[in-house]
Amino acid sequence: MSGLNQSSSELGRPALQRLGLSRPGRALWIAAAVAGAAALLAGCGERPPVEPVQLGYRGTGMETVYNPRMVASLYEAQQLPSVTPAASPEGPRASEVYQNVKVLGNLSVGEFTRVMLAMTAWVAPPDQACSYCHGADMADESKYQYQTARKMLEMTLHTNAQWKSHVGSTGVTCYTCHAGRPVPQYAWYTAPPEQPNGLMATNAMQNRPELSVRLTSLPYDPFTPFLLDKQEIRMAGNTALPTGNRQSIKQTEWTYGLMMHFSNSLGVSCLYCHNSRAFANWEESPPQRTTAWHGIRMVRDLNVNYLLPLTDIQPKNQLGPTGDIAKINCSTCHRGVYKPLFGKGMLKDYPELSGAYPPAPPAPPADGAPVDGVPADAASGDAVPGSPQPGGEPPTTAQAKAPARLAQLPAN
Ligand code: HEC
Ligand code: HEC
Ligand code: HEC
Ligand code: HEC
Repeated sequence: MSGLNQSSSELGRPALQRLGLSRPGRALWIAAAVAGAAALLAGCGERPPVEPVQLGYRGTGMETVYNPRMVASLYEAQQLPSVTPAASPEGPRASEVYQNVKVLGNLSVGEFTRVMLAMTAWVAPPDQACSYCHGADMADESKYQYQTARKMLEMTLHTNAQWKSHVGSTGVTCYTCHAGRPVPQYAWYTAPPEQPNGLMATNAMQNRPELSVRLTSLPYDPFTPFLLDKQEIRMAGNTALPTGNRQSIKQTEWTYGLMMHFSNSLGVSCLYCHNSRAFANWEESPPQRTTAWHGIRMVRDLNVNYLLPLTDIQPKNQLGPTGDIAKINCSTCHRGVYKPLFGKGMLKDYPELSGAYPPAPPAPPADGAPVDGVPADAASGDAVPGSPQPGGEPPTTAQAKAPARLAQLPAN
């Protein structure tokens, strides 16, 4: 993989020597090449110099290439909002004082009010403030924003309490996803099926440059099969003959589509999570791949158990082309950075959202409950952690609700 990181001048020198160009000839040639490269790069929005950062052992070529100017602007865009001083945990509980408090009832009134203020700053449009979710009667739950916010509160507490295998103690608050907007900047809808064009075959949902897969020809909705449904994220099998080899080229393309999203949403190269000499091998993968493995299961859990159930209360004009609600992918939290908000967690400032307070802890996720520690794979070679045994698992809500065409997507 080191070829990827070779600078263009290194690559160009032997070629020029082979061409047998004299010095002035070379100078002209180089000037033309530089002008050409500049013209090409002008369209990319990324100009050199860039900085490679070594991630693996020396000589393994495991590097991620950062553009310091882009990192600087991301950093600027991800500044934390101000934190209000902690409230006293003493005094009567919110559930005793208010009429209709179902999630945050164990907080003191001071803490409860502090959370309402924070939610307003993190999610509501400034000109609407409390009235974005509330009517004149604060206990009235008729607004869909109020009902959504209650589910979102449950989701946030659940994530912080049950998915420590991904979010650690950094955790998430509403701000991680919303960053001051009512609907997060990065969310996704299922892409509508392609209409066959006359007698032509369909495009198999690929070969159409979409930003979801960074304008490559890969299948452009890798989210529905992998982050809503739990189809296998695999590539070509590991045996030469088809004996027992259930993987296909098509499945590999879908897998790569998802991997483009991973790289893009974290602002890293493939080598942040893989050793490119053996993509599938867990023993040679950096620990970040394990964190990502848990992240995939977490995103499925949040989409199926928290977002899908909100579909019916959502205004119709906010639904996607197939009538689905906006859902979460890796970009929703990460927004181009290896750790959301560059790892500066806000949960420590808002222990009210840690999930330690709610009266009845939410039920553990249905799909592959967060397994403690390193996936079993670490010990057992290429076997993949918690990978569903054929026919072994009951269908999820996602499978029940997902469009029928799902069944045909990356199947063999
Ligand atoms: C993003 C939506 C949202 C915003 C903005 C919001 N709230 Fe709330 N509010 C809720 C939800 C959801 C509940 C119910 C919480 C629960 O069940 O634990 C609630 C409950 C309340 C209650 C309890 C009412 C009762 O008797 O049941 C009060 C008081 C309250 N909010 C005050 C405020 C104030 C003051 C603001 C503005 C500073 C505000 N809220 C902003 C969503 C919101
Ligand atoms: C993991 C990411 C994530 C977190 C954390 C999160 N949300 Fe959301 N939220 C979403 C997504 C995705 C949507 C879009 C789905 C929809 O429109 O309902 C959304 C939608 C909403 C909406 C409806 C907006 C609209 O007009 O449709 C409200 C209100 C809301 N969230 C409040 C909150 C509050 C309050 C919190 C913190 C307690 C929170 N959210 C935490 C991802 C998140
Ligand atoms: C943020 C971490 C991360 C990044 C970045 C990433 N991957 Fe992955 N990749 C994973 C995880 C986790 C899995 C396993 C998913 C599972 O088992 O559910 C995986 C699986 C794969 C597989 C399937 C291996 C098998 O078992 O058949 C291939 C191939 C792959 N990745 C290639 C790539 C490529 C190419 C890139 C860059 C475009 C990339 N990955 C970027 C985390 C990552
Ligand atoms: C609900 C918000 C949220 C979503 C959605 C999310 N992450 Fe994360 N992720 C986090 C947080 C918070 C951390 C930091 C954890 C820590 O500090 O230990 C993190 C850390 C990571 C890391 C470790 C980075 C490092 O350098 O150690 C990887 C890799 C990662 N996420 C991959 C993913 C992938 C892949 C997805 C999509 C399948 C995803 N994440 C979706 C919140 C999220």
